[in-house]
Amino acid sequence: MPKCLVCNSNFNPFVNFGEMPIANNFANLNELISEYKFTMQVGFCESCYMVQLVEQPDRERMFHSNYAFYSSTSEYMKQHFQRFYTQIKEKQSLSSKSFVIEIGCNDGILLENFINENISCLGIEPSKNVADIAISKNINVINDFFDESLAKKIAGEFKKADAIMSANVICHIPYIHSIFSGVKLLLDQEGIFVFEDPYLGEVIEKNSFDQIYDEHVFLFSALSVSKICKMHGMELIDVEPQVTHGGSMRYFISHEGSKEISENVGKSIANEKSLGLHRNESFNSFGLNINKIKQDLVALLKKLKKQGKKIVAYGATSKSTTVTNYFGIGPELIECIFDTTPIKQNKFSPGVHIPILPYEGFHKSNPDYVLLFAWNHAKEIMSKEKSYMKDKKWITYIPEVKIT
Ligand code: SAH
Ligand code: TYD
Ligand code: ZN
Repeated sequence: MPKCLVCNSNFNPFVNFGEMPIANNFANLNELISEYKFTMQVGFCESCYMVQLVEQPDRERMFHSNYAFYSSTSEYMKQHFQRFYTQIKEKQSLSSKSFVIEIGCNDGILLENFINENISCLGIEPSKNVADIAISKNINVINDFFDESLAKKIAGEFKKADAIMSANVICHIPYIHSIFSGVKLLLDQEGIFVFEDPYLGEVIEKNSFDQIYDEHVFLFSALSVSKICKMHGMELIDVEPQVTHGGSMRYFISHEGSKEISENVGKSIANEKSLGLHRNESFNSFGLNINKIKQDLVALLKKLKKQGKKIVAYGATSKSTTVTNYFGIGPELIECIFDTTPIKQNKFSPGVHIPILPYEGFHKSNPDYVLLFAWNHAKEIMSKEKSYMKDKKWITYIPEVKIT
């Protein structure tokens, strides 16, 4: 029986997705001949309320100098991180004397806002290709994995941080105690640690099972995050829901006793208990819902294909690797995936090897149906493509299979 990464208790997996490739391994066909796979199972620990992967690939397999996710591909996300910046600046009354750290700064989408206002910052980013873009924006970046040992080195060179921030990164890191110990060491007595990640409550409510892939080791809730904080002499002082990545939660954390606790924390925990996010049984029906989506989507795609319809997909997301591999959807059903990210273009999708083509060819491809893999960006994408899609249909599958 697997042991919980947080509290070491035994727990039971509730869904087994079978063999999965690295979700962001968009590669050439010759590189995909002996593709690495791992068994992807997800489970819930009833002792500390953490939903987690049973097995994780080594971090160097996922985060390296060819990392395919570039944060700045979405205009909406740029605005989102500008608002994130403003909120932290106001909350901590930041000035040119302040110092902030970001864990997993990627191409600098958040920290560039601090640079523009002359607030000192440090980014930590192990994936060199995206770190180099942040560096080209004059951001000070350490090209390494954040953990307690790196935090000790940083502590010797930099002053304590007024804010430590992280978006869509903490849930990627199995050695979570090392992260919290490192943050504890680097955070000023009055500082705040603010991170956001896809939210367990939304995943369960929306059936957004595709948030589960190699990089997403944890699905957090206020229940589980407050438990980890306590283990490190820290405190969850506020939570704020976000619409990004299909429904996320931003967690605000301080040293224990240093700040007032917002009533939002108690309210969120009560709401999570009413959803059953503290009980094993609640996760059993999740697996059944996923299989219903699988049946419906595969049946729809096969029916349309039989009718001679042309189906392409939009957005070579990491999430789509779970969908295509678990459902068995390959190039026989989806001709190709269009995407704006240069590093993914003219490559093939992990596991099922659907061709990825440059977005510029999308309008010329003239499909009958477009499967939206980047469903979390539906608002931005559907409004951008509105006139082109007039006589064509979108297919979405979260929270259920739908044609629009
Ligand atoms: N914060 C950005 C990027 C999220 S993608 C955004 O929200 O868009 C996840 C990023 O975390 C990747 O760039 C990856 O290289 C980085 N990462 C993974 N493990 C890390 C670790 N231990 N320390 C710091 N960054 C890490
Ligand atoms: P995203 O859903 O943010 O990520 P994840 O990999 O975490 O599942 O990825 C969005 C992908 O969709 C990315 O490869 C860029 C692409 N994309 C487009 O091609 N066009 C667009 O208009 C947008 C917003 C994204
Ligand atoms: Zn546990």
